[in-house]
Amino acid sequence: MRRIGIYGGSFDPIHYGHLHLAEEARCMADLDQVVFIPTWVSPFKQDSVPASCQQRLDMVRIAISSNPAFAVSDMEILREEVSYTVDTLRRCREMMGEDVRLYFITGTDAFLSIEKWYHSDELLQNYSFIIGSRPGYHEEDLDQVIWRVKSKYGADVIKLEIPQLDISSSRIREKIEDGRSVRYLLPDALIHYIGRNGLYLGLRTDNQKDPDALDFDEIDRDIEEVIRGRLKLSRLTHTYGVMEEAVRLANRFGADARNAKTCALFHDAFREAGNLAHGAIAADYMEEEFNIEDEDMLNAVRFHTTGRKGMSLLEKVIFLADAIEPNRKYPGVNDLRAMAEKNLDNACLMSLTRTIDYVRSQGQDLDPRTLEAAEDLKYIMSGTTAEERRFHE
Ligand SMILES: [Fe+2]
Ligand SMILES: [Fe+2]
Repeated sequence: MRRIGIYGGSFDPIHYGHLHLAEEARCMADLDQVVFIPTWVSPFKQDSVPASCQQRLDMVRIAISSNPAFAVSDMEILREEVSYTVDTLRRCREMMGEDVRLYFITGTDAFLSIEKWYHSDELLQNYSFIIGSRPGYHEEDLDQVIWRVKSKYGADVIKLEIPQLDISSSRIREKIEDGRSVRYLLPDALIHYIGRNGLYLGLRTDNQKDPDALDFDEIDRDIEEVIRGRLKLSRLTHTYGVMEEAVRLANRFGADARNAKTCALFHDAFREAGNLAHGAIAADYMEEEFNIEDEDMLNAVRFHTTGRKGMSLLEKVIFLADAIEPNRKYPGVNDLRAMAEKNLDNACLMSLTRTIDYVRSQGQDLDPRTLEAAEDLKYIMSGTTAEERRFHE
């Protein structure tokens, strides 16, 4: 039986920590081959720090070229969507046949949450794991998780202790941005590639930038990690659809597309909390955990389900993107999309009216803010002035 290591990661860029772990894994587990599988990264993220998918793939190719036991696969990148580990391993098994034992190579941080991974039971029962760990780094927690999954699933887990693992891609990117040397952290050929392609440069101008300003690209990356761990696949797909649509609507109607993108990523992070509660919970989370104080952004997330009177441009964008993102399928959604091309207020009103009719037909309680939002938009669209509206009230 052949023994194959599967090593997934963003590899942005790949460095000696990755290569060393792969080689240790190959030797310790007697692997015939280690396949590096760079993850797909949304193109919406590529205006910021990360290299493109193609560039990350190139860099892995260059880095592993001298090791005949190493290979690279573009299977996740070609799918052009977020892949779960279980999907990747299932596809590897399909391609490689039953007569192969697959070892998923990962790090301590990722493995600590293995029980929350999508289809973790299938993963732990059908595949082996190799964990690259640093001595002293969350050692007790890691041992506990390993013990638990071994006794519960009969999981096959190999823990490799590698003191030299303390190199990180993010630190390499920072050093490059700051113009500092990264020699001996990654192969020279990669340093040349990075230099030739101008990667990771000029993205952070610390001396000009307010040091207290939030880095929204970093926030987006962090919240993506969170939702990829929390949300089921359909909800995650919906969230990326809302992100795409929100950016499009924001650009079309003059809202801040950067903020719209972040709001979209947060909007359903706590969807399991219930239809009415989840917006407020997500907004509180943005504020408390990510220090986002922009009231407009917080409101866009807080009221994305109900709407409310006096919705801002950004609130309307998120509200509508949620209703018409490309994965939505319900009667009338195409009419709503057509209206969204022409008139944001009218499209929001159509969507609110649909919600009101639906909730009433189900005999459920309607949030008064939804009614107020609809009434407010009717006033706005009838062209009444603020004075007239006050008079009506
Ligand atoms: Fe929602
Ligand atoms: Fe949603």
